[in-house]
Amino acid sequence: MLRTHSLKHFQIPRYFQNTILTSNVVKFSTSKMISSRHKNARRIEGLDKNVWIEFTKLAAEPGVVNLGQGFSDMPPPSYIREALANAALGENFLINQYTRGFGHPPLVKGLAELYGNIYGHPIDPYKECLVTIGGYGSLFSSIQGLVDEGDEVIIIEPFFDCYEPMVRMAGGIPVFIQLKLKSLKEEVGHAISSGDWALDPDELASKFNSRTKAIILNTPNNPLGKIFKMEELWSPVIADLCIKHDALCFSDEVYEWLIYTGHQHIKIATLPGMWERTVTIGSAGKTFSVTGWKLGWSIGPENLIKHLQTVQQNSLYTCPTPIQEAVAQGILKELGRLHDQECYFYSLPRELEVKRDRMAKFLQVAGMNPVIPEGGFFMIADISVLNQDLSQDPSEANQPYDYRFVKWMIQNKRLAAIPMTAFVSDSSKRHFEKYIRFCFIKKDSTLESAETIFKNWKLKT
Ligand SMILES: Cc1ncc(COP(=O)(O)O)c(C=O)c1O
Repeated sequence: MLRTHSLKHFQIPRYFQNTILTSNVVKFSTSKMISSRHKNARRIEGLDKNVWIEFTKLAAEPGVVNLGQGFSDMPPPSYIREALANAALGENFLINQYTRGFGHPPLVKGLAELYGNIYGHPIDPYKECLVTIGGYGSLFSSIQGLVDEGDEVIIIEPFFDCYEPMVRMAGGIPVFIQLKLKSLKEEVGHAISSGDWALDPDELASKFNSRTKAIILNTPNNPLGKIFKMEELWSPVIADLCIKHDALCFSDEVYEWLIYTGHQHIKIATLPGMWERTVTIGSAGKTFSVTGWKLGWSIGPENLIKHLQTVQQNSLYTCPTPIQEAVAQGILKELGRLHDQECYFYSLPRELEVKRDRMAKFLQVAGMNPVIPEGGFFMIADISVLNQDLSQDPSEANQPYDYRFVKWMIQNKRLAAIPMTAFVSDSSKRHFEKYIRFCFIKKDSTLESAETIFKNWKLKT
């Protein structure tokens, strides 16, 4: 019998009554019948933990200075926000309806022109581009569309945390390899750079075999800020090994424009023999500082992109039209001033480099050892030198040091960061637990608040 009578004590607004009644009826009527068989699909077994859900909640506590999650707290360029408002309110009201599933035509045309210039060959906007829900959507459709049950996928640690669960959901097997800090003993006074972290070429070669389907490359890397140099991408390393073993490369380049002085971003797809085996991932959120818009793209050869398109047409179908229209306007505007220093692709990193250097200094004041990023908007810091005694909550005893440190820091210093071990596999956690990650795409007043916390921290110790 349906137990709908239990709702009689609730004051439900009239306009919600039908919906709420229906969902509660379902809940009440099935609670006794559901069996453990319906617990969860096996493909998501063990993938329920997520660092963003846990730490975003902690960072949102009142009075906490949030240098955790990677988003800007400064206004995005006004022209792109105006473009979104105009798209929604303009005369062409059909912009508020569905658009082409694989990407709004003005946007894919803009992307094809932008990347055609960079790659040095024409890109077909309809066959070699796919617009997705964020860089996440692009990673998801690449992995779902191309990785099969039992395929091995090489993941470089530290890595953007969704790579591993996405590979597992597709039935693939992640094969990890660590970036390691080169020995710097002889270089006294050398500030550690993200470029001092490198792969061992022999170890990398040992990870490739006939089951290797793909390697996931992330340059500039989150969380390290490392930009892979030509000698790390080309012979005899990543590109060479992909070609030798006929493996694909998913190249996550969402921070492609955030490159600091003295460094250069190289797209692996531009190296000989790599275009045909690479899907390159981009993000409007990172490109225009509008992470909440959740728009991204995949660029690659037709024979690969068509499989990503199949995933999209059978899952999301399409992305929001007004947002695509506004991003198309943004790309168009930047295309027109690509050789001008005012182009947002160059002015943003100029602004961020100052913030990066400021953050490095104040982390040092507190006694942490920052690793200076070559790109992106994150900085990791070694916290082990602080020797902070963390009260041992028995329920947290098994958590890595960095997790406990960040929780302690939020509680006691009102400052949020992200533990580095969120970006490595279980078996590598002990190697990385002395680092935490800070985000520096923040307005000066946010950085000032953080600086004050660090100065006071130093005074108290
Ligand atoms: C390396 C990397 N890839 C992909 C993404 C996801 O991008 P988006 O927010 O556009 O989905 C992020 C976001 O933080 C990232 O850091």
